[in-house]
Amino acid sequence: FRPGCLAGLSVLVSAGPTREAIDPVRFLSNRSSGKMGYAVARAAAAAGARVTLVSGPTALSPPAVAEFVAVESAADMYQAVMARAASHDIYIGTAAVADYAPEYAAAGKIKKTAGELTLTLRKTRDILAAVAALPDKPYTVGFAAETDDLEGYARAKLAAKNLDMVAANWVGEGKAFEQDDNALEVFWPGGRRTLPTASKAVLAGRLIDLIAERYGARAAV
Ligand code: PMT
Repeated sequence: FRPGCLAGLSVLVSAGPTREAIDPVRFLSNRSSGKMGYAVARAAAAAGARVTLVSGPTALSPPAVAEFVAVESAADMYQAVMARAASHDIYIGTAAVADYAPEYAAAGKIKKTAGELTLTLRKTRDILAAVAALPDKPYTVGFAAETDDLEGYARAKLAAKNLDMVAANWVGEGKAFEQDDNALEVFWPGGRRTLPTASKAVLAGRLIDLIAERYGARAAV
């Protein structure tokens, strides 16, 4: 990417999975390793931005960024992101935030007595949509992880959540989640670009380049 393309700007990145407690020892989560989000945070810092990384639990070492905030649940991530979003120029939502969480976490470990156990899940708050709805919203980049109709769902997210850009990736067996390589189809109002398969480090650099280009184009309007 172009060195210094984000100099003077601040970038807030979310990364990794969230964990939604069922009881003190169990949780619901997903396969996000944090690799994509950490690569995006590193690339933004290398491009000259002041970077804040809000991360769910991962096995990775935190990258050298201005602020690293470790969170656990979707609700924690919502608080951490919303407390900081308006003071950043760009928000990149790479995290795989749980869409549903148990309506409550049992205070004690659930015992193995009943033959069947029903968990009631409730929708979590959408962090990306909340950031994009801020009156002084940062340039807001969402991710879209899809197993079908990548473009259709990605464009629907762009419009429904009032985003500035969506980076969409195919997910499923051996794709995106946990992998070292990835590919992105990036959409913004009136445009698109294919970022072909590369290591997440290289791909993150290309995405940061594109964000800098589109951010500059928006600022120039
Ligand atoms: O971490 P890795 O193993 O490297 O894998 C990378 C990745 C596949 C997780 C990443 O590239 C990716 O696609 N991240 C988004 C995963 C996701 O949850 O996608 P989604 O289509 O369900 O969500 C769309 C967007 O809404 C995302 O920007 C997500 O951060 C955001 N969201 C979702 C739910 C919610 N409650 N709040 C949100 O902000």
